[in-house]
Amino acid sequence: MAFGTIAPHPSDPIMGSAQPNRGAMRPMKGSMMARILVLYYSSYGHISSMAEAVAAGIRDAGLHADIRRVPETAPEEVVKNFGFQTNDEHTLIEGPDVLGDYDGLVLGAPTRFGRLPSQMAAFLDTCGGVWANGTLIGKPGAVFTSSNSQHGGQETTLFSMITNLLHFGMTIVGLDYGFEGQNGVDEVKGGAPYGATTIAGPDGSRQPSDDEIDGAKYLGRRVANTAAKLAA
Ligand SMILES: Cc1cc2nc3c(=O)[nH]c(=O)nc-3n(C[C@H](O)[C@H](O)[C@H](O)COP(=O)(O)O)c2cc1C
Repeated sequence: MAFGTIAPHPSDPIMGSAQPNRGAMRPMKGSMMARILVLYYSSYGHISSMAEAVAAGIRDAGLHADIRRVPETAPEEVVKNFGFQTNDEHTLIEGPDVLGDYDGLVLGAPTRFGRLPSQMAAFLDTCGGVWANGTLIGKPGAVFTSSNSQHGGQETTLFSMITNLLHFGMTIVGLDYGFEGQNGVDEVKGGAPYGATTIAGPDGSRQPSDDEIDGAKYLGRRVANTAAKLAA
């Protein structure tokens, strides 16, 4: 185990509660219902709405879904001046180690200059223990995002989160073309083979469309069905 040539010590804060059982997966066979975590960051609510749609898709498929937020890390002045909002119906993630308690992980975050926001990155940077323990290896992972403009960096943002999931050893589930709603140019629409997306518009006032919500639900169902098959 090593980050580059430097092996972190388990007492390093970024390692969480690293234990030398890399790759050991919590058994989820038998009567235990598989559980999927939808973990997100949102400043203006679009990703929060998409998170609920992803969770609805997971539940439609018969699995348990929890929605959690990562902590806000922007200075209070920025939060106030830019009108960042928090959906208090969704509780904060308890810490990095709980990720390993789940049978799948779906990350959602809006684009920031074509990549994931620092709030999500800050949380993921505390997940050294999750990586070291290998508690997510082989489990399904997926991502969703939003941006103001149609070509404002959605796909690069999705991949910036997929990169993390691959380092955790996860099996990536995309928004495959079985979701036909991502085809066509009849309306402005998000959606990419790499994950579910929505477009907030230049002033952020556009809300996720029915089609984009359907894409998020489809992604949730796909993750759930994959988790169930892996658990069989
Ligand atoms: C610092 C900053 C950088 C942003 N960069 C981009 C960008 O590169 N492209 C884009 O289309 N939107 C960009 N946006 C707009 C956000 O992606 C948009 O507010 C977000 O998708 C809305 O999702 P939310 O309501 O869940 O926060 C940026 C917003 C902020 C605050």
